[in-house]
Amino acid sequence: MSTERKRDEIVRYEPATRINHWIVAISFVLLALSGLALFHPALFWLTNLFGGGPWTRILHPFIGLVMVIAFVFLGAKLWHENVMQPRDWQWLRQIKDVVNNREDALPEVGKYNAGQKLLFYAIVLCLIGLLLSGIVIWRAYFAVYFSVEVIRFASLLHAFCAFVLICAIIVHIYAAIWVKGSVKAMTRGTVSYGWAWKHHRLWFREATRAQRK
Ligand code: HEM
Repeated sequence: MSTERKRDEIVRYEPATRINHWIVAISFVLLALSGLALFHPALFWLTNLFGGGPWTRILHPFIGLVMVIAFVFLGAKLWHENVMQPRDWQWLRQIKDVVNNREDALPEVGKYNAGQKLLFYAIVLCLIGLLLSGIVIWRAYFAVYFSVEVIRFASLLHAFCAFVLICAIIVHIYAAIWVKGSVKAMTRGTVSYGWAWKHHRLWFREATRAQRK
């Protein structure tokens, strides 16, 4: 297989960023499965995937740490591109054009559109909530330092943030599949000129200008 990039393609993610993203994604799937297994008896059978109940309980918080630490690197790398700009608020005001695929009526989009940016902030908030509440309810190491009331509140917060994050990631995956050509950006690292021009025109102009230099 040739590693040479085609002429009409633009690099969207370097290999390190892609590996970083997939570490976050794989740990998220493992966390959702193990977390749901611990959440309700009807889903306890999912613990079989992790070597039984005790192992699920041991592994879940450690996988959580892997996801949070991996996301800190990913978030730090992509933070700058996710800052809301005036054009993003206009994009949100024209949400009807977005869902009806009238992209030409929208303001030009940079590396990420306003929907992606808001989702990014939702992920950040959920991860902060999950990390803080997760520490409080981590029986093996930290729960002894907190009162029962605090532990109860943290359990609720943990479940709430997990629910919001799972919904957010379902939207994220749906959008990745809906916008044809996006998944390739995170697997191969490149997108076509056509994809970039149609969905992220401002970024297309910047990226091709940099490529020409
Ligand atoms: C599990 C399956 C997942 C799939 C198939 C997937 C797919 C993708 C794709 C295709 C992109 C590139 C979008 C673009 O460049 O326009 C992307 C970007 C991104 N993904 Fe995922 N992803 C998954 C899980 C996750 C999870 C669990 C997280 C975080 C908890 C996450 C966080 C991100 C972030 C932060 C970006 C960059 C977009 C931005 O910063 O606004 N992804 N993902």
